[in-house]
Amino acid sequence: MNILLTGGAGYIGSHTAATLSQMGLNPVLFDNFSNSKQNVINSLSKIVGKELSGVHGDILNTKLVAKTLKDFSIDLVIHFAALKAVGESAEHPLKYYSNNVSGAISLLEGMEMAGVRDLVFSSSATVYGAPQYLPINEEHPTSPQNPYGRTKLYIEGILEDLVMANKDWRIVSLRYFNPIGAHQSGYIGESPNGVPNNLMPFLIQVAQGKLDKLFIYGDDYPTVDGTGVRDYIHVMDLASGHLAAINFLQKHVGYHVFNLGTGQPSSVLDVINCFQDITGVKVPFEFSCRRAGDLAVCYADVDKAKRLLMWESSYSLEDMITSAWNFSGKNF
Ligand code: NAD
Ligand code: WQD
Repeated sequence: MNILLTGGAGYIGSHTAATLSQMGLNPVLFDNFSNSKQNVINSLSKIVGKELSGVHGDILNTKLVAKTLKDFSIDLVIHFAALKAVGESAEHPLKYYSNNVSGAISLLEGMEMAGVRDLVFSSSATVYGAPQYLPINEEHPTSPQNPYGRTKLYIEGILEDLVMANKDWRIVSLRYFNPIGAHQSGYIGESPNGVPNNLMPFLIQVAQGKLDKLFIYGDDYPTVDGTGVRDYIHVMDLASGHLAAINFLQKHVGYHVFNLGTGQPSSVLDVINCFQDITGVKVPFEFSCRRAGDLAVCYADVDKAKRLLMWESSYSLEDMITSAWNFSGKNF
């Protein structure tokens, strides 16, 4: 099976490409490298032991999308390509609506042109907004709190409309919780540009001495230790979640939404303590004020994915941290 991965050179796309290839599927990476490096494709080749195909292109280029789908006889698309920085999306909303929403429309038009109508879409738990109950299941109301999150929800709406209009489309949206960790080889992992926004890459750069200390955003949340609580999931579990979604799509018509998380809540202090225990490296930190727009607690109800995708996470927080630290060491 030939699978086009838009944004395939990025963090989650590259790990998914490794898993798909190792399962005998043929991933083709389509990326404009706006937030990734071309050498990821070489790293992937080392992991899977063969050359992977890559196309340097933008999803906004509908004709190139259609041509690529035909040239590689693509059966299914996984749509990872997007901009994802929450703060930047508030400063430059049009950039986000253009790249993410117009980009998705362009991709879908290209798919129509090529007659490819099976799609797995990278959505996000951020579409839920502030939890009204926990754990969050797929029926939870959606109310994203920033332009980035709204791009994801708008795209989900477009996908649902498309399936309503034409029953040939089969689409799964996967709402990821907090992906962290890296491939066990250490060849690929998360390497954000500039100062990281997210907890794990920031913590690692502090542990490496690249940054002075970690600022913990808030110690007065109504949580077990006052710090924010999230559902961290190993990126390799996400990768196998995509494989499960592909298998599901072969047998199900319509539009379907699934949470991908572990269902296990961890606080910021849990993550720091776990990191220090595993690595033996002390992480200097300081409590600072809450970050605007942050939630106190967010974790997934993963029952639907277990029942229908027959998928569940298998890696622990220790595994996630060990793999992320291993990757950072090899790429320091
Ligand atoms: P990433 O930035 O590492 O990967 C995205 C890739 O898409 C990059 O390689 C980038 O160069 C490419 N890209 C962006 N715009 C493009 C365009 N117009 N044309 C072609 N390529 C383009 O991000 P990631 O963490 O791997 O995220 C993948 C997907 O998962 C995104 O859709 C993101 O919104 C979603 N997601 C990520 C997280 C997370 O915390 N990492 C959580 C939930 C959802
Ligand atoms: C986790 C916890 C912070 C950094 C974001 C996006 C979301 C999604 C994933 C895409 C929180 C705390 C963090 C730091 C800290 N992506 N923290 N100091 O905010 O849950 O989700 O990334 O769809 O849309 O909003 O993840 O890793 O930024 O934060 O104390 O330097 O760590 O307050 O409690 P978040 P995160």
